[in-house]
Parts: sequence; structure tokens; C-alpha cells
Amino acid sequence: MAAMGRAVHSDGPPPHILDDWLAADLAGVEGRAILDNMRANVTPDRLQAFQAWTAVRTRFVEDFVESAVAAGVRQYVVLGAGLDSFAYRHAELLERLTIFEVDHPFSQAWKRRRLDELHITLPHNVVFAAVDFETQSLLDALKASGFALDQRAVLSWIGVTMYLAREAIDATLASIVSCAPGTRIALTYDQPPDVLSDKARALLADVSGTAAKYGEPFVSLFRQDEIERLLIEHGFDSVTHFGADEAVSRYFGATDVGMADVQRLVTAVVPKSSPAA
Ligand SMILES: C[S@@+](CC[C@H](N)C(=O)[O-])C[C@H]1O[C@@H](n2cnc3c(N)ncnc32)[C@H](O)[C@@H]1O
Repeated sequence: MAAMGRAVHSDGPPPHILDDWLAADLAGVEGRAILDNMRANVTPDRLQAFQAWTAVRTRFVEDFVESAVAAGVRQYVVLGAGLDSFAYRHAELLERLTIFEVDHPFSQAWKRRRLDELHITLPHNVVFAAVDFETQSLLDALKASGFALDQRAVLSWIGVTMYLAREAIDATLASIVSCAPGTRIALTYDQPPDVLSDKARALLADVSGTAAKYGEPFVSLFRQDEIERLLIEHGFDSVTHFGADEAVSRYFGATDVGMADVQRLVTAVVPKSSPAA
């Protein structure tokens, strides 16, 4: 669903803020079937808002990672990587960056099969780590994959928290905050219906309904103050927020792309005084 959002944005009319030229191929016939299902059941204005946001969150993360690399970070962990194609579209960064793609074993095996079928050469510094956040420790998996715990990292965790029970989110945040001070994360969370506009509430129902149909119900939603409190309680600092309004002013200028504020981004940093410091 997310990859097809990026594909439609990338192939659709301007303005373009992301060129994910691999997304449609990676998603394949299964992605096309999900898109057809959404087109049949979701109004065009809400579908447009969904597609614009999938492009925004990926573009935001790519900017976030590039700025971390410019600041000397050499490890990027893509949590719940799904069909994220950063590693295959950014050859220029791979001499300076090791990318750890972390995902549920089923999703990761599916993606690896698609990469294979598409004859995409795996960059030598892409490391795959299969982890079920509900039952396994991210930290253990990272350690086993050669991740340097004493070196700063940048992590993304987009389009995932809504699928996880609160305990799994807590356990994963606890793993992340024990990474080296200066480690930074960008993650998304979905907001509950009571804080949403009518359009956003309808889009939340569309997207969560589609996900539930494919066996992945939304189970954790947060308000902005709740996600900030959670990150602070875990020991993160420098929390910043980014949603539809910020996306319009940063990426789309005067163009009205009909954003809805269902899902938002938040970033945070592991401080020097974190438990690991
Ligand atoms: C909507 S996709 C987002 C993928 C990608 N981050 C993106 O933005 O395109 C959700 C991802 O969360 C992962 N996920 C869901 N539950 C998980 C779990 N319990 N453990 C690990 N990954 C999980 C899925 O495997 C899938 O890759």
C-alpha cells in the first residue's frame, strides 16, 4: 500500500517531491491489486492525500538521513523497511553508509524475493536483519548483524507503529535509546479519530480498513502530546514534530495537494545522559 502510494506520486502529475522509480516494480502484481482495491473504495481526494503523505514521509526521512550522513553518521537502520528502496536508489551514499534493513521475517523474505526476481544487485553494505518487534529484541538483532552500538546511527521507523502493540513499541524504543548518544530517529504515528478533521477521519478509516482486510489491523494510535511524552519517558530528547502543514510549507509551496493530517512524523535524539551513556 505504501509503495504504491510512492509509485503513484512518482509517476503522477507534478509537483514531485520523490522519485521512487523502484516502488511499482517492487510491489508487483500484489501492489497493483491493492491500488485497484483502494481506487474502487477510496474517494479521489482522500487517495490523493494518502499518496502525497507516503511521498512526504519518505522524502522527509531521506533528507533526515542525508543530513545525518553529512554530520558524520555512518549507520542507517530502516525499521519495518517494507518495500523501502532507499538502499537501491542512493548508490552515492553507500560508500559512506551501512544500511540495516530490519523487518518482519515474512515481509523481508517477500521483499528479498522481489529484489531477486527484478535482478537487483544487493549493495555490499546492505545488511538484512529479520525481527518481529512483537516477540524479538531489536537490540539483539542489531548486535548480531554487526551494528556498532558505540557509533551513532540514524533510524527510520515509518508506517509501522500503528501495527504494533504498545509493549512492542516500548521494547523497540528501549532498544533504540540504548544506542550511542547522538543517535537520531524519525518515526511516524497515526492519530486517533477524535483529533482528526472529517476528511482525515474518513481517510484513517479507509487506510486502517484496507490494512485490516490484509490481516494487519491498526492497534496503536497516539496524539501528538502522547507520542512526545512516550519518547521523553524513554529518555530521548530534542523531540520535533512534522505534519501536513509543515509538509505543505517545506515541500509543496503554494500548491494545494489536499493533505490530511492522519499520520505525522516525529524525530528525537538519544542524549548524552541516556541510559547507555
Ligand atoms: C506499511 S509498511 C511500511 C513499510 C516502509 N517503512 C514504508 O514506509 O514503505 C509496514 C511495515 O511494518 C512491518 N511490520 C509490521 N509489524 C511488524 C512486526 N511485528 N515486526 C516487524 N515489522 C513489522 C511490516 O513488515 C511492513 O514492512
